[in-house]
Amino acid sequence: MFSFSRSSLRHFSSSARILGRAVVYSQNGDPSKVLRVLTYPSVPSPPPPHSVNLNFLLSPISPADINVVEGVYPSKPAKTDALTLSGEANPLFVGGNEGLARVTAVGEGVHTLAVDDWVIMLKQQAGTWATDRTVTVADVAKVPDSQFLTQAQAATITVSVNPPTAYNMLADFVDLESGDWVVQNGANSAVGQAVIQIAAARGLKTINLIRDRCNLDALKERLHNLGATHVLTYDQLADKSVREDIKQWTGGKPIRLGLNCVGGKDTTNMARLLGNDAHLVSYGAMAKQPLSIPISLFIFKNLTCHGFWQSRWYIKKPLEEREKLMQNLVTLMKEKKVREVISHLHPLITLLTSVAGHS
Ligand SMILES: NC(=O)c1ccc[n+]([C@@H]2O[C@H](COP(=O)([O-])OP(=O)(O)OC[C@H]3O[C@@H](n4cnc5c(N)ncnc54)[C@H](OP(=O)(O)O)[C@@H]3O)[C@@H](O)[C@H]2O)c1
Repeated sequence: MFSFSRSSLRHFSSSARILGRAVVYSQNGDPSKVLRVLTYPSVPSPPPPHSVNLNFLLSPISPADINVVEGVYPSKPAKTDALTLSGEANPLFVGGNEGLARVTAVGEGVHTLAVDDWVIMLKQQAGTWATDRTVTVADVAKVPDSQFLTQAQAATITVSVNPPTAYNMLADFVDLESGDWVVQNGANSAVGQAVIQIAAARGLKTINLIRDRCNLDALKERLHNLGATHVLTYDQLADKSVREDIKQWTGGKPIRLGLNCVGGKDTTNMARLLGNDAHLVSYGAMAKQPLSIPISLFIFKNLTCHGFWQSRWYIKKPLEEREKLMQNLVTLMKEKKVREVISHLHPLITLLTSVAGHS
């Protein structure tokens, strides 16, 4: 997650206008080679009609953002969203898909937003690794109840893709009721931790699979504190006797939803835990191994496999659905059922010194 504090910005001495800064690239490639930090003239104020000026407060850096810079992700920034500056031969793309921003000025005809409102981006790949940008009002949505949230909380639930992904995967595939069971791998991932918390808030029980490690007990304890019902390593699951334990835990109740962040043989073992008419939802491929599912699970257990992509959800769903999702997540945060998760906060000023090309 980036933070863009104004204290890190310089002013034009002649006009006293605040300069904008952005993390940009003009061609895809290794992020450590193609990314640079650019200082650019401030956005016009007031902005054009039906537009707003934004000052980004926090912007996530997710694995998918890195893939976009590498050019290997299906979503790509549009050239029209690039920064157009004189003297640059190629369009300059601004990194970042999502961000929590404060409205700093509104253009004529904007009635739904006011200065100081917090907003998130509705448009994909709008270039959020920037201090200030002008966007059309249709490209942003107001964060509800923002007066009850810290910046970190608002960013965790509204601009990080992870809690929305977790929320939707728990809601969209199986009609789960309190007391039902869900199994997931990659349970300590950001998405996995959101799954644990949202499931617990709904009264769902979770079996959480993680890789073995030297500080395993500490991680297990952390996941239990978030609301995990059981935590197992993939190695433990490979031992068939554990399946008997799991039957005892569930009281023989079929597990009808499995969430796959990883792929490979550990997911095959996880799929074997699923009961009749279950759904296996894949959203990540961290092991970089194909998914292999025994055909018997399809024939005899009527297993259904899906892929889930939150970006597709945003494209397909109307604005009202997105606002409802945001409100539901804000409520969970206000009720302290979902904790803020920001793994590392990098002020832009730190980045200025760590990214080589700085213009
Ligand atoms: N489809 C969607 O809409 C959507 C939305 C959000 C995220 N995602 C995807 O979900 C995945 C997780 O994202 P995140 O932001 O939650 O990641 P994250 O917090 O960085 O966590 C990564 C997870 O992957 C595990 N992992 C890494 N390499 C592995 C390997 N070789 N074998 C098994 N596990 C491995 C890590 O376990 P260790 O701690 O043991 O390393 C950790 O649990 C990514 O693939 C991301 O692109 C998809």
